[in-house]
Amino acid sequence: MKKLIIANWKMNPETIEQARLLVTGLEHRMHQVLEKTDVVICPPFTFLAPLSHYSHLTKIGAQNVSWAASGAFTGEISANMLKNWKTQFVILGHSERRLYLGETDSMVNAKIIACLNAKLTPVVCLGGEEGALKADMKSLVSKQFLQVIKGLDKKHIEKIIFVYEPIWAISTMKGSTPATGEHAEEFIEYIRSLVAKKIAKDRAADMQILYGGTVNRDNVHDFARFPRIDGVLVGASSLDRDNFWEIINEFARESIHKS
Ligand code: PGA
Repeated sequence: MKKLIIANWKMNPETIEQARLLVTGLEHRMHQVLEKTDVVICPPFTFLAPLSHYSHLTKIGAQNVSWAASGAFTGEISANMLKNWKTQFVILGHSERRLYLGETDSMVNAKIIACLNAKLTPVVCLGGEEGALKADMKSLVSKQFLQVIKGLDKKHIEKIIFVYEPIWAISTMKGSTPATGEHAEEFIEYIRSLVAKKIAKDRAADMQILYGGTVNRDNVHDFARFPRIDGVLVGASSLDRDNFWEIINEFARESIHKS
């Protein structure tokens, strides 16, 4: 299975020129890793349209979507609108949206359904809740998991990419502490076991489950060396072209060793 590296740019960079340079810099090198990794760039909404012209070997994702298909929802963007701009993935349930924008598990659930109806792949983060500690993670992750998949049938659950994203490991959170590769792998396998209770075990084994705490060029090896970590969701380091490239390259290299 290919590794999946997703760049969550958050509300960055400031200009389309900076965004274009980040994408074109990757595009030039993507052929080196294409067989081993998929790379998805999730820019702010306003850059989706222009970047759709520059992204060819990289894929495009969004950082949010409305749960509604259309109508009176000021400030929202629908799944079908995203599809106009080559968008294939949507990040949902990120800690920052839960914390600062009041996104709840039931909103995430409705947004997953909106994505699936529009044939977009939901990238669903588990592990974000205000004040959650390392010791709370298993109960938090299982609670969020059960809420966000409410009402979904097996074939829909299989289409979700889950991300273990412990809030205490995100670089921009106050007092953040990076997780270890062992911890990330343990929780990825924990999420896989939750999924396996809902769908066939062999299908759960085939799903991509990512890690989404702080990953950068200095610690990437500690995550990439675990074969069950299928990839990463990268925040701050995805805005630095060389740093992000080293993350992609390390996953590609590790996956070559293991194949
Ligand atoms: P970070 O963000 O890489 O800056 O820690 C990760 C995330 O927001 O999931």
